[in-house]
Amino acid sequence: MIVRTLQWTDFPGVADLFFSRFDEIPTNPDLGLPVPPERPTLGEEAEWFGREQKEILEGNRVTVVAEEGGKLLGMATVWRLNSHAEHRHGGELAIHVLPGARGKGIGEQLMNEVLKLCVGKFEMVRLTVWSINERAQKLYRKHGFVECGRLPRAIKRGDRYMDQVMMWRPLPQPSA
Ligand SMILES: CC(C)(COP(=O)(O)OP(=O)(O)OC[C@H]1O[C@@H](n2cnc3c(N)ncnc32)[C@H](O)[C@@H]1OP(=O)(O)O)[C@@H](O)C(=O)NCCC(=O)NCCS
Repeated sequence: MIVRTLQWTDFPGVADLFFSRFDEIPTNPDLGLPVPPERPTLGEEAEWFGREQKEILEGNRVTVVAEEGGKLLGMATVWRLNSHAEHRHGGELAIHVLPGARGKGIGEQLMNEVLKLCVGKFEMVRLTVWSINERAQKLYRKHGFVECGRLPRAIKRGDRYMDQVMMWRPLPQPSA
């Protein structure tokens, strides 16, 4: 298994990873990721992938993937929230590993690599995670994230409410 930066040729794997949410949710209602009401078309996915690539090329996104034998197993990404002078030092992180590949240290390696590549691009990284998502919170704490707030009942899946937990960590400056 290798962890590397995203390439244009990763589109099929990235689309499969995104579509896996729709397949997983019926059997895993605890999946800590939002699922759009409608499955996007492959064309819509391609448009989204193109926009992501543009952000990477312009230095506003860092994305890494885990790959084994040509199959994409997971992805972590940090993007610049907006370009305003007061906000552009901050990034937001998201991570997703395919269901069958979880609990084997892939999330760990993706976090190591994406945070390493963020040094010099971002000064702080924030994220939100659902209160029931213990596995993700544990991973984030291990990588220096601390909870900085909680929005009660921000998430509702079916009849179940969950809090949205906000976490952040500073990043070292390149010279440090
Ligand atoms: C959260 C996620 C990215 C973690 O990736 P992963 O590859 O499964 O994680 P790892 O195998 O690297 O393990 C990370 C830590 O979680 C622990 N862990 C593994 N399985 C666990 C479980 N069932 N419950 C709690 N912790 C668990 C590991 O032991 C490890 O901690 P430790 O080594 O310090 O003891 C992955 O599970 C995932 O994609 N989940 C669905 C999407 C999601 O929730 N994304 C985050 C949204 S905020």
